[in-house]
Amino acid sequence: MTQLFVHGGSLVHEDGVRDEDLLIENGVIIGVGETSKLAADAQRIDATGLLVFPGLIDSQVHFREPGLEHKEDLATGSLCCVAGGVTAFCEMPNTKPPTTDPKALADKLERAAGRSWADYAFFLGASKDNADSLGEWETAPGCAGVKIFMGSSTGSLLVPDDETLERILRSGERRVAVHSEDELLLQQNYAAAPKGAPYAIHPQVRSIETAVRSTTRLLDLVEKTGRKVHLLHISTAEELDLLRERDLGDLVTKEATPNHLFLCAPECYERFGAHAQMNPPVRDRRHRDALREALADGTIDVIGSDHAPHTLEEKAKPWPESPSGIPGTQTILPLLLTAVHDGWLRLEDIVRLLGGGPSRVYGIEGKGRLAPGFDGDFVLVDPRIEDSLPLAWLRSRAGWSPYEGTKLHGMPTRTFVRGIETYGKHVTHGAPMGRPLRYRTTSA
Ligand code: DOR
Repeated sequence: MTQLFVHGGSLVHEDGVRDEDLLIENGVIIGVGETSKLAADAQRIDATGLLVFPGLIDSQVHFREPGLEHKEDLATGSLCCVAGGVTAFCEMPNTKPPTTDPKALADKLERAAGRSWADYAFFLGASKDNADSLGEWETAPGCAGVKIFMGSSTGSLLVPDDETLERILRSGERRVAVHSEDELLLQQNYAAAPKGAPYAIHPQVRSIETAVRSTTRLLDLVEKTGRKVHLLHISTAEELDLLRERDLGDLVTKEATPNHLFLCAPECYERFGAHAQMNPPVRDRRHRDALREALADGTIDVIGSDHAPHTLEEKAKPWPESPSGIPGTQTILPLLLTAVHDGWLRLEDIVRLLGGGPSRVYGIEGKGRLAPGFDGDFVLVDPRIEDSLPLAWLRSRAGWSPYEGTKLHGMPTRTFVRGIETYGKHVTHGAPMGRPLRYRTTSA
């Protein structure tokens, strides 16, 4: 029996921040704020002056393995996670080859075993060819569910038409993650746009209308089929209005990314060029402010980083060859701590959006809360650290971030996965010991 006793810190829960001790035994939390089971030989961690967060769940990352390991792989991607306080990730299927069948899923699980620093699950990508099999496949152990790209982005996955979409939504029961941009409109807009235009054209081409039209189509199909969806990386104020108007309750849960909350057009494109380019695009302040409001009023259920690394060389290409995507799983927590310092977010919201939120939305078991019976995943945060995000701190193979140099207030200092310190003092500890996530809907 191994016990870990974290004392003197302030535990951050969805419903408050409390000075409590945390007791973990054999990787599972057995006590919060009470020490009746504390053994004399427990390992002790002094968290005086520190915040103790549950390990964060990043439910949208692209780690590029197999096929695009020059951008990232499961070892480097999961290292970014634990360096930033993320102890579980759900990885997207647009790898090479894409994860579109049980064999490709099994291959990713095999690759992650013994190499991932954080716990993991992998999405299956939906296509015309596998539409009717997804319901059978989605319950496999280690499967995060099904992901649909309604508009094309990085990789070949695409479901542009309502007929296939409906077939996918009718196959299976788990909540489906959806990238919502209207492919037809995207193609028309790209065809009309001058090649080599400034990067600031990106949100004009991937316009508000491309997002709204697609999300309207999706909501119609959700109403028709009754299938639950999770709308990824919402980028427009108009979609937020639409979602509130049509209020489909738990049928439609919603995600925002840090990039849409912290960056603003046109300045971000002027300052960072293609390093601010992602899909759906970062838009102007009106949308950013609407998203911040939607975080505060509970419209947004989850923050996902959409960690999407590309190399500096790839990003140096002129628009539209410059690939879309921004690395971000490591910077999510320091940015949100800074939002708390700046007064537009609460510490409790961070746990709601990256702990309880993803766990509820996707049915992840035993994660996202500091409570007895949950995995002993936690992060120590020093709220007094002030730093200008140093490039040397970043662990992604991409080697850049639009947030480099951003003044931060608060940093994760040590990360524990199931009671074992995995990252601390800027280095990894022990060996990668990530495991597949368990879901309420699967036997895993
Ligand atoms: O900007 C993006 N990059 N959006 C996506 O949907 C995919 C991602 C990637 O994989 O590069």
